[in-house]
Amino acid sequence: MRQRRVKNLDEKLHALSSHMIDNPKEYRGRWNEVFGNDNPIFLEIGCGKGQFISACAENNPGRNYIGIEGQSVVLLRALEKAEALGTDNLIFICDFVQDMEDYFTPGELSGIFLNFSDPWPKARHNKRRLTYRGRLENYVRVLQNGGCIEIKTDNDALFDFTLEEIAAAELLTVEKTYDLHSAESTFSAKEITTEYEDKFRGMGKNINYVKVRGR
Ligand SMILES: C[S@@+](CC[C@H](N)C(=O)[O-])C[C@H]1O[C@@H](n2cnc3c(N)ncnc32)[C@H](O)[C@@H]1O
Repeated sequence: MRQRRVKNLDEKLHALSSHMIDNPKEYRGRWNEVFGNDNPIFLEIGCGKGQFISACAENNPGRNYIGIEGQSVVLLRALEKAEALGTDNLIFICDFVQDMEDYFTPGELSGIFLNFSDPWPKARHNKRRLTYRGRLENYVRVLQNGGCIEIKTDNDALFDFTLEEIAAAELLTVEKTYDLHSAESTFSAKEITTEYEDKFRGMGKNINYVKVRGR
C-alpha cells in the first residue's frame, strides 16, 4: 500500500529510537538482554502501525513483544504508540525480514503473529507470501517446543493457500475459523484487533484465523 510522505521522517524516527533496535542481528540469542528479563518473547512480522502488538504488550506485562515492519514511514506510527504506552516489554525492528534465523536462535521465541500479510495475488509470487511453506518451516525453527504461529487475514485466497502450506509443512492446526468475529466465535484471538482487521470488519468482511504448532 502506498504511504503518504512524512516530513522530517528521519528526525522523527531518531527521536523515538529508544523503542527500536538498529542492529537486530547482533542480538541473536540474547534478546533477553534487550528486555532485561527471561520472560517469553512474542513476535509480529509486518506489524504495520502497531495497534495489535502495543495492545498485546499493555495487556500482558509478563511477556515481551517484538514488532517487525519493513516500511519506516509505517513503523513511525507504531513507535509513537510505544512512546505513549511507556511500557518496557515492547521493541521494534525496521526491516523486511527473510530468514528468521538471522535474528533468532532455535527456540528463542514463544510465538509468532502474522496479521493481514500482503497477499501477493500473482501465482508466480507465491514464495513471497509470508505463509509460504518454506517460511513457515523457518518460523518453526526459531520457536520453542509448543510455540504457535497465529495467522489472521481478510483475504480468502491467501487463507486457502495458507492452509495448503500448513499441511505441506506438516504443522498441527490448533484452532481454525473462517469467521473469527461471528457471534458464536469464542476464540480469544478476537479480543485484540489490528488496524486492518478493524477496517475489513467495518466493511462487513469475514476474518479468517488459524493457529498452528510446529512441534
Ligand atoms: C497489509 S499490512 C498489515 C499491517 C498490520 N499487521 C495490520 O494487520 O493492520 C502488511 C504489512 O507488512 C509489512 N511487511 C510485509 N512483508 C514484510 C517483511 N518481510 N518484514 C517486515 N514487514 C513486512 C508491510 O510493510 C505492511 O506494512
